[in-house]
Amino acid sequence: MPDQSRITALIVAAGTGERAGGDHPKQYRTIRGKTLVAHAIDAFADHPGVGKIRVVIGKGQDAAYLEAIAGRNIEPPVTGGATRQESVRKGLEEIAASGGTDIVLIHDAARPFTPPDVIDRLIDALGSTSSAVPALPVVDSLARTDGSTVDRSEFVTVQTPQAFRFEAILAAHRAWTGEQPATDDAAIARAAGHTVELVKGDPALKKITFAEDFAMPSPTVTRTGLGYDVHAFAAGDHVWLCGVQIPHERTLAGHSDADVGLHALTDAILGALGEGDIGDHFPPSDPQWKGAASHRFLTHARDLATARNATIHHVDVTLICETPKIGSHRAAMRARIAEILAIPEKSVSVKATTTEKLGFTGRSEGIAAQAIATLGTLEE
Ligand code: CTP
Ligand code: MG
Repeated sequence: MPDQSRITALIVAAGTGERAGGDHPKQYRTIRGKTLVAHAIDAFADHPGVGKIRVVIGKGQDAAYLEAIAGRNIEPPVTGGATRQESVRKGLEEIAASGGTDIVLIHDAARPFTPPDVIDRLIDALGSTSSAVPALPVVDSLARTDGSTVDRSEFVTVQTPQAFRFEAILAAHRAWTGEQPATDDAAIARAAGHTVELVKGDPALKKITFAEDFAMPSPTVTRTGLGYDVHAFAAGDHVWLCGVQIPHERTLAGHSDADVGLHALTDAILGALGEGDIGDHFPPSDPQWKGAASHRFLTHARDLATARNATIHHVDVTLICETPKIGSHRAAMRARIAEILAIPEKSVSVKATTTEKLGFTGRSEGIAAQAIATLGTLEE
């Protein structure tokens, strides 16, 4: 295994992102909860084989960059140039000026998702060659713009990170005499006479280029949570169930409005998030929750889900009681829950059952509720 402290990632983030549009250059915009440049940095920071990270940024981008990396502790950025090639060159010269390195992995900040095994393959390949790049076969048919077809088996698409022996790529950049700037560093290495080895790339390395690329579907994991709650009847003239007020000859006793349905549902969502239970978030001992409308608890759970980049796919509540009869209120309950959770009504189910006069619900001593919530969360 090569010396980790002598392997440096050089991330170029000095472009203006013309084609992606938007208010900020694309590398400072967010995808799957993090800026592109932060994703790019973290992939190398998390890889045990990589010892150092240098980032090249555009002139005047310092404030945007510092905000985008959100306190990550890496060496000060290098100022880039007018083309990607110039930005890489400036980064290489800065590495050379500050002690050099053995291997450099040159990477576009515009490719936020670098699988660790691609880095492994590149570092392995450099055991026997000066240059290695990730490549993917062309899967669509390939044609020239005049319509004539070409044999796609002769072509690959080339991604970054691209790995080089540092001295070799530094010398190749310095020796470059091409009239057009090269679009990647493999072209510069080849022009200097190096053989570039192709290792298996990964579709996850796709470069964010156009505005629509930000809408890339996120890989999610599905989590479910279960909630259960009971409240006893007391003297009164209405109950709150699933956010709907229902006239009744008794009320439900509780510190808040005792909406047993919303309490079970709040616990189900907290359960899917692994965020404890409703009592942790709203202690019954706290006077501020006395008589509180329970939609506040559910809103809180929804906001926690949003903060975790979780999507509430579906919820299902079962109310267990002899009376009141739920049937005529179900539509209103579904609509209210959908409104509080800001999800479509078709993603909400409310059911009811009696217990055939058995047990405490059967004796009409109280109402029980069960809920289940299905959430999609980003892979962690
Ligand atoms: N890049 C750079 N310096 C430049 C131009 C580009 O460091 N002068 C970086 C970009 O920030 C990006 C990578 O090179 O991480 C790949 O370039 P590209 O996808 O073309 O990004 P932009 O040049 O920013 O986008 P556009 O071409 O649409 O303006
Ligand atoms: Mg560009």
